[in-house]
Amino acid sequence: MNKKNIDFWEDVLANQPASYRKWFEEEKKYLQKIITPNAKVLDVGCGDGRSIFDIIETTQDAVGIDHDQKAVDDARRKFAEYPSVKFLKADADKLPFKDEEFDFVICMGTFANFADKKFAVLEEMKRVLKKTGKIIISVYSEDAFEERIKVYSASGTKIKEIKGGKVIFDEELGDNTSEQFSREELEKIFSKVQLKIEDMTKVNIAYLCRLSK
Ligand SMILES: C[S@@+](CC[C@H](N)C(=O)[O-])C[C@H]1O[C@@H](n2cnc3c(N)ncnc32)[C@H](O)[C@@H]1O
Repeated sequence: MNKKNIDFWEDVLANQPASYRKWFEEEKKYLQKIITPNAKVLDVGCGDGRSIFDIIETTQDAVGIDHDQKAVDDARRKFAEYPSVKFLKADADKLPFKDEEFDFVICMGTFANFADKKFAVLEEMKRVLKKTGKIIISVYSEDAFEERIKVYSASGTKIKEIKGGKVIFDEELGDNTSEQFSREELEKIFSKVQLKIEDMTKVNIAYLCRLSK
């Protein structure tokens, strides 16, 4: 079977280079600082549920969605002892939830993969977010390129094309685009969907963003 985006990502998680480890540690601190006790949280493009695990002591009222069945199966297995944490197979641009359901919508490491769907995904995140809710996005910064390329070559991920910071992989990967963004690019993207930037913290290879409606 061909390797999909989630297989590649699970390899990265299992063999984290120091740069990625540092980024994930910073994400965890950021989430733990912002997420409030027992808040209702949606994780978009959750993979194996790594980020829900980061906040499991704060809330177990969490749902992860991913459009890859393997990611959903892996996450369900990992969270078997937390029955209130749910995982669903769904597309980020068609979230199967009512308007204003969540206190927090988080999207960690996945925004880079949305390619042309990124605006539709942001509109969906906004729709399911309560009026007072926050969106938290973690995405590669303009300083990530070298570390990304090292990781792609270590895992043997076939690259079809590189356009600036945008890397396009072989179609067999499924989600075959990975992007990185400057602060100005992110500001433009978020303002296009009328999301307010409350905070944008640069860590080693990423931006951690807190947004509101
Ligand atoms: C880079 S991984 C990040 C996983 C997880 N958030 C983490 O940080 O460990 C990207 C994940 O997003 C999922 N994904 C990508 N595009 C998606 C979309 N349009 N809808 C739902 N899931 C998506 C992939 O299947 C993959 O599991």
